[in-house]
Order: sequence, then structure tokens, then C-alpha cells
Amino acid sequence: MKALIFLVSLVNMVYTYTMIVSWGRPTEMSPGSTVDQVLWDTCVKYCYNSMYCVLAYGNDSSCTLFDFGDVSTVEKLDPEENLKVAMKINNSTADTTCPTSISGSFPSKMRSMWETFTNSNYNITFTGDLWKFSYQDKVTQAGSNYALPYTIIFPDGHFKLKQSIVLIGYPSEQRWFLNIESSIGEVLFHFNPRPEVNEVVRSTHRNGVWEMYESSGGYPFTAGQQFNLTITNSISDLQMYINQVWFADYRHRTPNPAEDYVKLWVQVAVYVDSLEILG
Ligand SMILES: *[C@@H]1O[C@H](CO)[C@@H](O)[C@H](O)[C@H]1NC(C)=O
Ligand SMILES: *[C@@H]1O[C@H](CO)[C@@H](O)[C@H](O)[C@H]1NC(C)=O
Ligand SMILES: *[C@@H]1O[C@H](CO)[C@@H](O)[C@H](O)[C@H]1NC(C)=O
Ligand SMILES: *[C@@H]1O[C@H](CO)[C@@H](O)[C@H](O)[C@H]1NC(C)=O
Ligand SMILES: *[C@@H]1O[C@H](CO)[C@@H](O)[C@H](O)[C@H]1NC(C)=O
Repeated sequence: MKALIFLVSLVNMVYTYTMIVSWGRPTEMSPGSTVDQVLWDTCVKYCYNSMYCVLAYGNDSSCTLFDFGDVSTVEKLDPEENLKVAMKINNSTADTTCPTSISGSFPSKMRSMWETFTNSNYNITFTGDLWKFSYQDKVTQAGSNYALPYTIIFPDGHFKLKQSIVLIGYPSEQRWFLNIESSIGEVLFHFNPRPEVNEVVRSTHRNGVWEMYESSGGYPFTAGQQFNLTITNSISDLQMYINQVWFADYRHRTPNPAEDYVKLWVQVAVYVDSLEILG
């Protein structure tokens, strides 16, 4: 229970941010994740809602999101260039005028958010025509093909019946999770392996509360051994297979499972080799 309360406070924190928009373009950065064919405002909302995104960049035809640690400088542009940046800042430090120095604070990226939660901070300072991002306590993950948290919108806009999520990866010694979310960010399915208690907790988080959780089936992962987690959307349940062996079913808790599952994200302390949606 202690762990669950932690996540709730974390989720609440996300909503204390503000996005500041200006004309601009990142000049020093690692590759971000590109979102095509969404309107700029939608892209800014993605950044706002994504736990580690600090910057959205683009226009109404193409937009890129950058996570904590992934962008260091942004140049200010003239409006004619039609390129915008939206920087996520800590609301409580926001001013009504456009600030020259702003800061934010994030949960540490690759620590276990359940037990050893600490904040990572970043400051954005504006000098000349350049915003500089400085970060403290950036923790990177070695050995993963995917930067975590790894978030996708399902290819057809939702996780369709008979489709499967196939995640190939290595477990770590810490807890990790995979969430399937609704279009308004409810966690319709939370899959959370907990090695220290040999359990895989499954639950749903809606209206600010965690619902009854399920944990039958033990802990089928082995440290250092690659796993294949397959989650299939069937008519009445989400069916989980681990290494091609049936593990558990999770009866749908959402009225329209053919439409309601919209977004997938994988977070904290798992080494992801590949993630595919099949079917
Ligand atoms: C939108 O931004 C992209 C770069 O991110 C650029 O290639 C494209 O030309 C821009 N589109 C418009 C309409 O300005
Ligand atoms: C900051 O958050 C409070 C509510 O938590 C809200 O009333 C206020 O408008 C926000 N400020 C900005 C600048 O977004
Ligand atoms: C925002 O800044 C205030 C004051 O510096 C700090 O107390 C608060 O924890 C910060 N909130 C977040 C979400 O970073
Ligand atoms: C951000 O600025 C504050 C106050 O100036 C400073 O204490 C902190 O170390 C800075 N953080 C980073 C990551 O630069
Ligand atoms: C993972 O398991 C699914 C069935 O559960 C299977 O279709 C798929 O081929 C497997 N992938 C790998 C790489 O083992």
C-alpha cells in the first residue's frame, strides 16, 4: 500500500507544471521522439502530460518531444521561421511575465520511483538569444534500446481486440511497470513486477484512486534472463503470457475494451530490447 500511495503523489505533481511557448529551435540535443500529424497544441499537451518531457518543438505538421536531460540549448527565432518551442516549467515558480530564468523539478529518471524517490532539477536560463538547460542528477540507463519512459499511442489509435503487445526485455533487480492508459490518462491496466516480494501486481487507477489489485501467479521473471511478455486484448480480458506460457488474465475494467486502451508506457528499471504491437 505504501508504494501505491507514492505513485498517486507523483501523478499529482505532474499537474503543477506550466508550458511556456516561444518561437525557437533546439540547437544541442539528443534525438527526441517525433510526433507527426498532430496540431501544435496537441503536441504541447503530450509534453505536458508526459512525465519526463521538458520541451516540445515544432509546428502544426511535425513536432518533437525532448525528455529531461536530452536538450541543452534552444535558440530564439523570429516568427517567420514558424518553429515553436514549449518549455515545461515548475508552475509555482512561474511568473506572469516571460521569465529570464526558470526552473523545474522531476522525479529521478532511472531510480525506483517506489522506494528511493528523489527529485532531479533543471534550470533554464535565457542569455543573448539562447535558452540553456542545466540538469542536476540525470541518471541514464545502460543497455536499453529504448529510453525510458517509453510511451506510444497504439498504431490504430487504440489497442484493438485480438492485438498483442510483445515486450522483449530483461528484468532488473528493481520494480518496473507497464501501463495501458485511456485517452484521458486513466491507468486502465497497470502491470508491475515486484522482485523483492515475488509478485506481479495488476491494477487500475481511475478518479485518483487505485482499484483492487490482483497478484496471482507468482513472479515468473528471472534476473538476467531475457523474457517475452505478451499481452493480448481478448473479448473479456487482457491475457498475459510470459515466455509463451499463460501467466494470468485481467478482466477488463473498462466498458469498451475494443476502443478504450489508447496509450502504452513502460517505466523504470527494465531493459527493453523490443516492443511491438502485433495483429
Ligand atoms: C514544420 O517543422 C519542420 C521541422 O520540424 C519543417 O521541416 C517544416 O517545414 C515545418 N512546416 C511548416 C509548415 O513550417
Ligand atoms: C499553478 O497552479 C495553480 C493550481 O495548482 C493554478 O491555479 C495556477 O493558475 C497555476 N499557475 C500557472 C502560471 O499556470
Ligand atoms: C516547484 O518549486 C517550488 C519552489 O521552488 C518547490 O517547492 C516545488 O517542490 C516545485 N514543484 C515541483 C513539482 O517541482
Ligand atoms: C538551479 O538554480 C538554483 C538556484 O540558482 C541552484 O541552486 C541549482 O543548483 C541550479 N540547478 C542546476 C541543475 O543548475
Ligand atoms: C513472444 O511470444 C509471442 C507469443 O506469446 C510470440 O508470438 C512471439 O513470436 C514471441 N517473440 C519472441 C521474439 O520470442
